[in-house]
Amino acid sequence: MFTFSRLAAAFTVATYLSSGVHAIGKITRSGRYLFNADGSRFYIKGVAYQEQGAVDTSDPNNPFLEPSTFIDPLANSTACARDLPFLQQLGVNAIRVYSVNSSLNHDSCMQALSSAGIYTIIDLSLPVNGSIDRDSPAWTTNLLDLYIGTINAFSKYDNVLAYNVGNEVVTATNGTAALAFVKAAARDTKAYLTSKSSPALVGYAAINGDDTFVPPLANYLSCDPTGKNSGSSAIDLFGLNDYSWCGNSSFEAAYADTTNQFAGYNVVAYFSEYGCNSPSPRIWTEVPALFGSQAVPVWSGGIAFSYFPAESAAGEFGMVTFSPDGSTVQTSTDFTNLKAQYNAVSFINTPSQSSAPAAAYPSCPQQNTTFLASNTLPPTPSDAACACVESKLSCQFNPQTSNTTAIIGTLFGTACSLLGAKGDTCNDIAADGSAGQYGLVSACDPSTKLSYVMSEYFEANNRDPQACSFAGNGTVNPAAVSSVSASQVASSCLSTATGTFVPVAPSPTGGSSSQSSGGSSPSHSAGAATALLTSDSRGLMGVALMFAISIAGGIWSLA
Ligand SMILES: *[C@@H]1O[C@H](CO)[C@@H](O)[C@H](O)[C@H]1NC(C)=O
Ligand SMILES: *[C@@H]1O[C@H](CO)[C@@H](O)[C@H](O)[C@H]1NC(C)=O
Ligand SMILES: *[C@@H]1O[C@H](CO)[C@@H](O)[C@H](O)[C@H]1NC(C)=O
Ligand SMILES: *[C@@H]1O[C@H](CO)[C@@H](O)[C@H](O)[C@H]1NC(C)=O
Ligand SMILES: *[C@@H]1O[C@H](CO)[C@@H](O)[C@H](O)[C@H]1NC(C)=O
Ligand SMILES: *[C@@H]1O[C@H](CO)[C@@H](O)[C@H](O)[C@H]1NC(C)=O
Ligand SMILES: *[C@@H]1O[C@H](CO)[C@@H](O)[C@H](O)[C@H]1NC(C)=O
Ligand SMILES: *[C@@H]1O[C@H](CO)[C@@H](O)[C@H](O)[C@H]1NC(C)=O
Repeated sequence: MFTFSRLAAAFTVATYLSSGVHAIGKITRSGRYLFNADGSRFYIKGVAYQEQGAVDTSDPNNPFLEPSTFIDPLANSTACARDLPFLQQLGVNAIRVYSVNSSLNHDSCMQALSSAGIYTIIDLSLPVNGSIDRDSPAWTTNLLDLYIGTINAFSKYDNVLAYNVGNEVVTATNGTAALAFVKAAARDTKAYLTSKSSPALVGYAAINGDDTFVPPLANYLSCDPTGKNSGSSAIDLFGLNDYSWCGNSSFEAAYADTTNQFAGYNVVAYFSEYGCNSPSPRIWTEVPALFGSQAVPVWSGGIAFSYFPAESAAGEFGMVTFSPDGSTVQTSTDFTNLKAQYNAVSFINTPSQSSAPAAAYPSCPQQNTTFLASNTLPPTPSDAACACVESKLSCQFNPQTSNTTAIIGTLFGTACSLLGAKGDTCNDIAADGSAGQYGLVSACDPSTKLSYVMSEYFEANNRDPQACSFAGNGTVNPAAVSSVSASQVASSCLSTATGTFVPVAPSPTGGSSSQSSGGSSPSHSAGAATALLTSDSRGLMGVALMFAISIAGGIWSLA
């Protein structure tokens, strides 16, 4: 059944694509610019397309109004058919979507968009536990599998322009160490796409924050830490979520400084979100500036935020509303104004692809007190090695609930503090993107890491079964060899998985999860009226706190 439906879907798409009715052109990157197949410059003239998920505005731990659920905008053929004429009226050639579910069928939406000449920029992360957590960053098998699962689901379509490996993971200078994990995600995603001969680009979408960290952040994500001018860990597409042009602003007032900061940038840069909503309605006078002669040497267009209604502390960012039954679309003045601006754009065709400078990958920014990311990246997560660890550990996390997100942080806290009391540490599962130190088990998923520390505690107690219970969350592994410790298991299973390699797709029947729960859409808040913070990087808060303590102190002492 599973195999059959997958084949059937692939067949349908193949038939469609070879029918000769239409084929959207392939976009390629040369250095810092994008080009159409005919060598003319390609600009992203786009709109964000993601219905907002559930947001708990009362949660004090959710200052960025990050949603806890998501609605896959490319899985509902009725909604896509309803919206396509409006996307066409707007005159967009690209949409950005923030969360998709790889197990759903996207054929109808993707084909309709392709026929209309519309590319997609797809964020690979999901909210809650499907993204790199800015407070406890790690690059782990569960995230890699989630990313690969989405790439596999979309690899048959001809209109995926790029995949984003993160959105606003870093929001302040003190969070820049997380970039080591974002860069590793870009590296492994790029290697996977190359192994599948996919032309899709790899991107990141950054908050337009403090000047002390945004330029080095951009340079770090596009640099070569080995100093060999290699792009293997570089993003192709840097997105800035920029809301600095409000109302009747000007290039000088809103964009000149940022444009100067990116004057020498080596890969493509664009606005992954834009559209300050104060004053309202929006007049979108930034559009002619963004596609004008002062901007195009640096920027390759942008994504206006947002087609769907999008509430935030800074007000409403949507451009359409729907009838109560969802069947019809009402456009707003924002929509009408953006439509007029977008339809008046004519692209400046310089440079041509043949005269574009070749890609170059400079060395990376040096670490200092405000830029914390190490040039030593974490390893590629290995499903096989982590599955080996899990299968051989003496005590295994065996939750009685399917919602492990709810308990895993607490259990890390418990296990690590018990280990601390025994004079041991949780360093083997910790990852420090600032020191460039990555514990042996740090690239495994949270469940395996928990089994690991539970096993260490069990072994420190002479394998007393009570020490593996954790109030009913742990089970002694009958298959474990009693003379082999958790650390020996890890050393042996992970001995060939400590470096960088082309990631392998998770086996469809294997134990390792390739899909995540939770979900997202763009999430917003605004400190200042014009500054939007979006993020999807929330996760295991309990772990976050534990690791922050561990790393900041340089030692693990939890007596
Ligand atoms: C950065 O500083 C803010 C404000 O002091 C704090 O809330 C946040 O947890 C810090 N983040 C990290 C990753 O240390
Ligand atoms: C922008 O400037 C134009 C021309 O001066 C003016 O007509 C319009 O009212 C201004 N709009 C806003 C929102 O400031
Ligand atoms: C698809 O979208 C339509 C229009 O909003 C809505 O009525 C319908 O419930 C959606 N279907 C699913 C399965 O969500
Ligand atoms: C830290 O390094 C970054 C990147 O090289 C640089 O932009 C920034 O000015 C430096 N900060 C300090 C305090 O030296
Ligand atoms: C899982 O538990 C968390 C924390 O208790 C809760 O917020 C979330 O809604 C739960 N998720 C599901 C799918 O039940
Ligand atoms: C598992 O651990 C959680 C978190 O500490 C705890 O609430 C729960 O009672 C434990 N036992 C079971 C069977 O879930
Ligand atoms: C998120 O947590 C759920 C269970 O709570 C799990 O099934 C899923 O695999 C996790 N996703 C990721 C990407 O870790
Ligand atoms: C994806 O869709 C499937 C099928 O409807 C559902 O079971 C699963 O929970 C969804 N995954 C996420 C992450 O929402």
